[in-house]
Amino acid sequence: MNNRLVIAVDGPAGAGKSTIAKKIAKILNIEYIDTGAMYRALTLKILKSNIKVNDIKEILKLMESTSISFKENHIYLDEMKVDTEIRKNIINNNVSCIAKIKEVREKMVEMQRRLSESNNVIMDGRDIATVVLPNANYKFFITASVEERARRRYKELLEKDNKDITYEQVLDEIKIRDKIDSTREIAPLKVTADAYVVDTTNMTIDQCVDKIISIIEGR
Ligand code: DC
Repeated sequence: MNNRLVIAVDGPAGAGKSTIAKKIAKILNIEYIDTGAMYRALTLKILKSNIKVNDIKEILKLMESTSISFKENHIYLDEMKVDTEIRKNIINNNVSCIAKIKEVREKMVEMQRRLSESNNVIMDGRDIATVVLPNANYKFFITASVEERARRRYKELLEKDNKDITYEQVLDEIKIRDKIDSTREIAPLKVTADAYVVDTTNMTIDQCVDKIISIIEGR
C-alpha cells in the first residue's frame, strides 16, 4: 500500500454509500471509484444488446468488446457518458444477476485494482474490503434498515425515472437484491472483522461523513 490512502466502503443497496464516499473524496481530495456503476454499465450494454441476463456465453463475448472508464467522476460505456441511464430501475432489477457471474467479477476486480493502483482512493461496492482491496487502510461497512433504504430508493426513483412504482414494490426489489448480493457464491456482501460499521438509518449524510472523517483523522 506504500504511503497511499486507500479506503474501502461496502454495504447494501440504498445505504448511502455513494453519496457518502463522494463527499469524503472531495473533503480528502482523493479519487472516488464507484464499482457498482461498472456492473451497472455492463448490465446496460447487455440489455441494449438484447442478450438474456442468464446467457453467460454471450455476456462474456460482449464483455470482451466493452470499454468502461471514468473521467472526472462520470462513467463512460464505450466512450458514451451513461451516468443517468445506469440508475434506471430496469438496471436496478437486473444488475445483481450480472454481478454474480464469476468471469464478470474477475474482470471487474482486475479493472478496479488497476484503477486504484497509483492514487489515493475511496472505492465503494460489495466486495471491496473482502476481495478488491483487502489491504485498505480503512474499511467501512455502511448500512441502514431495509425499510429506510427502500424509502430512499423510492424517493430517488420518483425524482428521476419511474412515476408508477410503489414503495412496496421498491421494498420487495431491494429485499431480492440484498438476498442475491449476500448469498451469491462468489464475493458475497459481508462485514469484515476489521471494518467500522456505520448504521445510517437515523443519521443524515453529513453526520455519517463527519463520523467517517473523524475515524480517518483519528479524532
Ligand atoms: O451499489 P450499486 O447499487 O450501484 O450496485 C449495483 C449492483 O452491483 C448490486 O446489485 C451489487 C453489485 N455490485 C457488486 O456485486 N460488487 C461491487 N463491488 C459493486 C456492486
